[in-house]
Amino acid sequence: MNKIFKAEILKNQALTEDVYCLSINVPFNIEAKPGQFFIIKINERFDPLLGRPFSIFDLEDKTLKFLYRVKGKGTSVLSKLREGQNLQITGPFGKWYPFPKDDYIVIAGGIGIASVFYLMKKFPKRAYLFYGARHRREIFYYKELEEVAKEVFISTECGTLDYKGVITELFRRKGLHLNLPIYSCGPMIMIRELKKLLKNKDVPCYVATEERMACGVGACLGCVIETKEGFKRVCTEGPVFEIGDLIL
Ligand code: FES
Repeated sequence: MNKIFKAEILKNQALTEDVYCLSINVPFNIEAKPGQFFIIKINERFDPLLGRPFSIFDLEDKTLKFLYRVKGKGTSVLSKLREGQNLQITGPFGKWYPFPKDDYIVIAGGIGIASVFYLMKKFPKRAYLFYGARHRREIFYYKELEEVAKEVFISTECGTLDYKGVITELFRRKGLHLNLPIYSCGPMIMIRELKKLLKNKDVPCYVATEERMACGVGACLGCVIETKEGFKRVCTEGPVFEIGDLIL
């Protein structure tokens, strides 16, 4: 059941020049599952009036965290807010990742790590994590990831960590043979590649396709995605889908 509430900013930390980690204080205990998202509205007067969806990066006690990239007016204003200011929050929304029963694989591309960290924290030391980014400085929370994952494999375009290249290729070399359920979030190009790799595999693969969302509440139709059963709204019928159901 989702709620609307005011939350105070505890921290709004710049991790790179355009990626931030926002921590807010929820005034009561809230239940939210990995893969779900909240809608953040900066204030009543702010244009755009609609809030914006942010997937849960972490939730512990009453501290809720979001990882976001500045890519428009809303996130630019958000990045300038400081400790002590208030936000209007609504949520949680969306379909969550089915809970893993045993070991599993996580494949994250770039800021997509925001959607899967909380999953690994809830089901710790069972995930083989494949995490790719453009550059080493965009590999966020490496130490924390090592703590929650069973094993971590990193790829960057510059090759300053484990592997030089794309994360789907590193997964093909080191993880495909494991035949474990897969949880993934990242850019559409990565999801498409993943779907090709899994063509003849009989393993479930759940992907969060949230990069397309705008209003987050089913109103703008800006998030529709083609599935075997027709077009679906990512915000209301996703963001988590079985990769085999998607027409990419
Ligand atoms: Fe607006 Fe889904 S984001 S309808």
